[in-house]
Amino acid sequence: MYVLLVILNIVLSNALDVDFNSSESICDATKLIQVGILDYYEGAKPGGRAGFLVKPYYWWMAGEAFGGMVENWYLCNNTEYQDLLTDAMVSQIGENKDYMPSHQKMVEGNDDQGIWGLLVMGAAERNFPDAPPERAPGWLALAQAVFNTMWARWDPENCGGGLRWQIFPWNGGYDYKNTISNACLFQIAARLARFTGNSTYQDVAETVFDWLVDVKLVELENDARVLDGAHISERCEDHSQLEWTYNHGVVLGGCAYMYNITNGSAVWGDRLNKVLNGSLLFFENGILYERACQDVNKCNDDQRSFRSIFSRMLALTSVLAPHTKARIEPNIRKSAEAAAKSCSGGRDGHTCGMVWRNYTWDGKYGLGEQLSALEIIQNTLIHTKPPPTTANEGAKSQGDPGAGLQLSSPNSITLPTRQIRLKDRVGAGFATVVFLLPFITGSIWMSI
Ligand SMILES: *[C@@H]1O[C@H](CO)[C@@H](O)[C@H](O)[C@H]1NC(C)=O
Ligand SMILES: *[C@@H]1O[C@H](CO)[C@@H](O)[C@H](O)[C@H]1NC(C)=O
Ligand SMILES: *[C@@H]1O[C@H](CO)[C@@H](O)[C@H](O)[C@H]1NC(C)=O
Ligand SMILES: *[C@@H]1O[C@H](CO)[C@@H](O)[C@H](O)[C@H]1NC(C)=O
Ligand SMILES: *[C@@H]1O[C@H](CO)[C@@H](O)[C@H](O)[C@H]1NC(C)=O
Ligand SMILES: *[C@@H]1O[C@H](CO)[C@@H](O)[C@H](O)[C@H]1NC(C)=O
Ligand SMILES: *[C@@H]1O[C@H](CO)[C@@H](O)[C@H](O)[C@H]1NC(C)=O
Repeated sequence: MYVLLVILNIVLSNALDVDFNSSESICDATKLIQVGILDYYEGAKPGGRAGFLVKPYYWWMAGEAFGGMVENWYLCNNTEYQDLLTDAMVSQIGENKDYMPSHQKMVEGNDDQGIWGLLVMGAAERNFPDAPPERAPGWLALAQAVFNTMWARWDPENCGGGLRWQIFPWNGGYDYKNTISNACLFQIAARLARFTGNSTYQDVAETVFDWLVDVKLVELENDARVLDGAHISERCEDHSQLEWTYNHGVVLGGCAYMYNITNGSAVWGDRLNKVLNGSLLFFENGILYERACQDVNKCNDDQRSFRSIFSRMLALTSVLAPHTKARIEPNIRKSAEAAAKSCSGGRDGHTCGMVWRNYTWDGKYGLGEQLSALEIIQNTLIHTKPPPTTANEGAKSQGDPGAGLQLSSPNSITLPTRQIRLKDRVGAGFATVVFLLPFITGSIWMSI
């Protein structure tokens, strides 16, 4: 018995001892972290539904989780979960093949759909094999469907533009325009522009970014601030002051794509550097933390995961804007080392914690902790692999520029006139709920 305990103790105390000079060691660690992630995945359990997390985790977070795992497939050549990931991504496409499955339709927000959109965009850019056509459209077509349906909800009548947080009027938050929804649209547009070379997407990305700046959800100071959102009833002037890593990260990543496709233009270079400066304020002595909630011990299940997508975006930025690499890479590396040390808890001995800066497990555990550790650790490998691919470079995913438009929105894409700016439009009122009616398909009314 004593011997057993000693052996157990040695095994446990060595948990996730990563040699960051070795891809193999990094990938071994991320294997263990993913086993922990799948503890929270219904689809990995007998009889569990593909694409769903166990309670209490929300649907959007599944999109975030699979996004991190697709990156692991790529960065670590890890095919172990390829079928699981394909099944998960296919399972949630929905009737209209736009990531609005009927089980989410009453509750889905623009941000939820947007995070799934970023997942399939990433799958296309990494050449993750498309599902067979009888199962689902290509990842590219699915990303285009998410883009098309989100852009169709652009709302110039309130606060001069922007997406609302919620898609449907019956949900709390319909009055709120949040940054993450708009940041997702901005970034998906920028990535589609780079991937397809179609400049319409670039125009949309410009429009969305301009709006975020006009309405001061992105404050382009030297250390840019990215605020969480504002209410239509307050003319979008009542900005929530909270700053979250994921808002910064998704805006940052979008800027990096725009910087790259404009061949390093001065305008996007300046925006990128400012948002990057703001993003680096989430590091303390080189170690990433969730500033708004971590030290007061108030991070909820969503917020515990935010450093996950933030890490992915930071790493992509260092690839698409190589001049940022020298500032980003040491922060990722040091945070990854600390995060790995935090993965030393729980019964398995490698459960990841929330606070990284103490180089030890802090007693916290959950899906968010696993996801954040996965992405910061695997992104130490980002420069060992080629950058995101494009159609020009022989990307294989099948696209469809009109995807998603056949059912849920009235007509084709039109750009809002650029002249409509905040000052002209603020306070146009709430009467525009009616404008949404065409977007709501018969099936929802039937289910009410
Ligand atoms: C990793 O490599 C760097 C130089 O590339 C070296 O300075 C460092 O000591 C190495 N660390 C380990 C743990 O081998
Ligand atoms: C993945 O495969 C590529 C090509 O075979 C190889 O160069 C690379 O080292 C591998 N990476 C890992 C982390 O195994
Ligand atoms: C991109 O910028 C570089 C450096 O300014 C310049 O040499 C090159 O011609 C530009 N390429 C395009 C396609 O504009
Ligand atoms: C765009 O990204 C590619 C791939 O990483 C990189 O080689 C290129 O230098 C980037 N362009 C600019 C202007 O930074
Ligand atoms: C960002 O931070 C760097 C380093 O602190 C500083 O040199 C630069 O002026 C800041 N602003 C921009 C826009 O890059
Ligand atoms: C981290 O270490 C500091 C200083 O030793 C201590 O005060 C703090 O409680 C620790 N935090 C956690 C989350 O363990
Ligand atoms: C470019 O994208 C727009 C918006 O989705 C679409 O209407 C148009 O057909 C696309 N053009 C091409 C050549 O694919």
